[in-house]
Amino acid sequence: MVTNMAGKHLITLQEWTKQEIDTCLDTAYDLKLKMARRIPHASLRDETVFMMFFDESTRTRNSTEAGATQLGAHAHFLDASKMQIQHGDSAKDTAMILSSYGHAIACRHCGWGTGNSYIREMAKYSRVPVLNLQCDLYHPMQGLADLMTIQEHFGRTQTRGLKVSVIWCYATTHKKPISVPLTQALLFPRYGMEVTLAYPEGYELPEWVIEQARANAEENGGSIRISHDIRQAFEDADVVIPKNWGSWYADSKKETVENREGNTTLTEKELEKLARNQSWKCPQELMDLTSAHSIYMHALPADRVNEVEDSVIDGPHSIIYQEAENRLHTVKAVMDLTMGGRR
Ligand code: CP
Repeated sequence: MVTNMAGKHLITLQEWTKQEIDTCLDTAYDLKLKMARRIPHASLRDETVFMMFFDESTRTRNSTEAGATQLGAHAHFLDASKMQIQHGDSAKDTAMILSSYGHAIACRHCGWGTGNSYIREMAKYSRVPVLNLQCDLYHPMQGLADLMTIQEHFGRTQTRGLKVSVIWCYATTHKKPISVPLTQALLFPRYGMEVTLAYPEGYELPEWVIEQARANAEENGGSIRISHDIRQAFEDADVVIPKNWGSWYADSKKETVENREGNTTLTEKELEKLARNQSWKCPQELMDLTSAHSIYMHALPADRVNEVEDSVIDGPHSIIYQEAENRLHTVKAVMDLTMGGRR
């Protein structure tokens, strides 16, 4: 157990030791039980967390805001499009000023090539912890909740050897970042899981991610393999996480365009690639190939028409609401451990 995490940033779980992650999960289990037993746990009374959102959110915003209230703190919601960032305030200015007013800055910024560096720039100047609520590369809060949910289902010490398949699926609802599968690919091998990353050609994660995931697996007894065969990914899996993600390669090559409403959309070439892969989805027939005790997970929001059939997401293997609930307990644990210290 680690007891000196006050003031620590959380930008990626890769920068937290396993001991720190385990301490965070210990805290999350404790806080979950306290909430169920109506035991007050206002450890952050009179503290303030600023929540800056450059992108939409349901789970992340509300779990952080409700969690702050339950810990006795106050969460300010800041829509970045309404901040003076629009008129030139830099990441440094914003971090210097907000950190002089409160006790943590939490931020979601999924802009490709800009989100992570913006959050890191704030962390450089902030006097208080900077907490990543999802960027172009990482979603550490989702990773913690996913790990907790898997541990709850299979047993806290029983994750070694679990067959976990992170599977790309077709979706049209929105252009999803790579941060969820990237976080899972790095984190799960650290807990001894045998991870299959399955996707059609063109949806690979950056090579450095696979190298880091392999190193994590070697160090901790897990494994990572890549497959382009969706059936193989479902066969005998203990955990399946079928979910859409965008093409980081297309993003980095700026293979996006602005439509008439000024929103970013994919180029014709990228839309054609997406359309070619409509068969990558999660129907009951594939779910039936998984092990008898398997679980279906999804960070949500899900594209219920394209990514997954209702019979699966609403079926007996689905654990999505427990997974979403655990976003609350894990973000509370992160705030409880990291807030309270000012530089
Ligand atoms: N899973 C997740 O981050 O959900 P939101 O986008 O609703 O916050």
